[in-house]
Amino acid sequence: MSTVEKVAIVTGASQGIGAGIVRQFLAKGYRVVACSRNVATSSQLNLVEVTGDISQPEIASLVIERAKEHFGRVDTLINNAGAFLPKPFTEYTGSEFTALLQVNLGGFFHISQKAITEMLRRGSGHIVNITSSLLAEQPLKALPAALTAITKGGINTVTRSLAIEYADKGIRVNAVAPGAIRTPMHAINTHGFLATMHPMGRIGEIQEIVDAVLYLEDAAFVTGEILHVDGGANAGHW
Ligand SMILES: NC(=O)c1ccc[n+]([C@@H]2O[C@H](COP(=O)([O-])OP(=O)(O)OC[C@H]3O[C@@H](n4cnc5c(N)ncnc54)[C@H](OP(=O)(O)O)[C@@H]3O)[C@@H](O)[C@H]2O)c1
Repeated sequence: MSTVEKVAIVTGASQGIGAGIVRQFLAKGYRVVACSRNVATSSQLNLVEVTGDISQPEIASLVIERAKEHFGRVDTLINNAGAFLPKPFTEYTGSEFTALLQVNLGGFFHISQKAITEMLRRGSGHIVNITSSLLAEQPLKALPAALTAITKGGINTVTRSLAIEYADKGIRVNAVAPGAIRTPMHAINTHGFLATMHPMGRIGEIQEIVDAVLYLEDAAFVTGEILHVDGGANAGHW
């Protein structure tokens, strides 16, 4: 199918995995609405940028409005915005709990509700949630991160739940569960340590996550899938 007319929304688009997804969708001929709290002004014809916190319902509404106003529809939503805060469980503060839930769950919830409402009108659509392999499904003694487990584990679960709820309405819902990926999220001096968290002995690259998103986007018979891109970490112990 030609992608010329397709419209994708990408959250958390200013750097890292989100920026990589935006670049690749634009290269494939999609029109893209990108949201982050800091977004550089861009003159690209097929790109509309919305500056704001995607966990806020009014920003989620604005992103959908911009997509409709500029491009007329919403085909694909990539829920990528997220935060990571590893620490021992008893050291999390109440405000850290609220902040992590807001971005990792609120950042998914409001925009997904509004995007699905639009997709239902047209009878088609696709959502890809960027979750986490290691911290949500293969917890590591060396890297405690319970708030990531709560939030990303919840997103894995709701991916399957929404896939079932909307399978017969033309809307697919999938997830990509990355291992540790070389993005600005991780200081360079931690990369050696992070490499040891995968059986393959290296960290992942942004393009490897982008490729997984693109596979799911084109995989018309795949829904409810949590695609692990994690150097084998999800397969077991090593
Ligand atoms: N890198 C990894 O090893 C790894 C592993 C597993 C899962 N993931 C997941 O992959 C996703 C992307 O991670 P990354 O490594 O690319 O992270 P990153 O380099 O820290 O980038 C995060 C992006 O999200 C945006 N963002 C954060 N909070 C936001 C908010 N409230 N509203 C809108 N945008 C927001 C940031 O931009 P602004 O600061 O400008 O808002 C930035 O563009 C996250 O969901 C993360 O949990 C990453």
